[in-house]
Amino acid sequence: MQEIFEAIKKSAKKIHQAIIHEDFGYCEGENCSGEQQLKLDVLSDNIIEEELSKINSVKILASEEKSDPITINENGKYLIGYDPLDGSSLIDVDLSVGSIFGIYENSFNGKDLVASAYIVYGPRVELVIATIKVERYILKNDDFVFMEELKLNEKGKLNAPGGTQKEWYPHHKELVESFFKEGYRLRYSGGMVPDLHQILVKGGGIFSYPGTNDKPMGKLRRVFEVFPFANVYEKAGGFAINDKGERLLDLNIENIHQTTPCFFGSHYEIKRVKEYYSKGKQWKKQ
Ligand code: AHG
Ligand code: MN
Ligand code: MN
Repeated sequence: MQEIFEAIKKSAKKIHQAIIHEDFGYCEGENCSGEQQLKLDVLSDNIIEEELSKINSVKILASEEKSDPITINENGKYLIGYDPLDGSSLIDVDLSVGSIFGIYENSFNGKDLVASAYIVYGPRVELVIATIKVERYILKNDDFVFMEELKLNEKGKLNAPGGTQKEWYPHHKELVESFFKEGYRLRYSGGMVPDLHQILVKGGGIFSYPGTNDKPMGKLRRVFEVFPFANVYEKAGGFAINDKGERLLDLNIENIHQTTPCFFGSHYEIKRVKEYYSKGKQWKKQ
């Protein structure tokens, strides 16, 4: 699997250069989730496809920017699902963006995810790899240098609530407010990579992207975004669940772009999510 991480590092350096130097305008079309694609979304996707296709152990590549997975090597062992440029709508305002990778065996179901990684393109470029533990690297000169192992505490202080507030269910609103009432601080940029990275590096808190009245299944995609981060959080000692209290990594997929409501956090906050969402079940029945 090391060769996959090396290809991810190469792609990250190229994408970083593209973010700095290339045009950040929109393309003509939309991707299959109905979102407008930036030229940089497509460029980043091409860079990653080119690097990962060189690796013999890669069987299938599935990208957030393509409707269908592509077969690279029938005899390969790994299936890779990736979001080439997460948070790309933040590029024009110069906020941090990222790339996310899930490495799977056999299928793209959560239980088949064997490792994950993400890159943060911020003032610095960082790489986080989650295998049996979670390791943070920083790009210095032309190399990713190991910085530290990341671990979540039992409880944090940050609250990153996604989704359109007007469309939140009442129990979700109460949940988010309960954290603020307790002194949690709002830390939300609109890019899940820097938002989840911040909570992880600061040792804890809660990131939520719930199901809402307008989007009951949420926005974030299982294969490219949710499963990879669920693995990062669990391996760092945290938790990652859906709105029914199920582990995200126990979920399957019916299609490659399927979304799910999701909650990532440390022990204390995820316990709270379960409490408020079991109240929500009663509310939904009324
Ligand atoms: P992408 O740029 O890959 O489409 O994904 C952006 C995601 C995620 O980073 C973020 O948490 C979420 O979309 C924010 O979306 P909204 O602003 O639409 O709620
Ligand atoms: Mn994304
Ligand atoms: Mn994307």
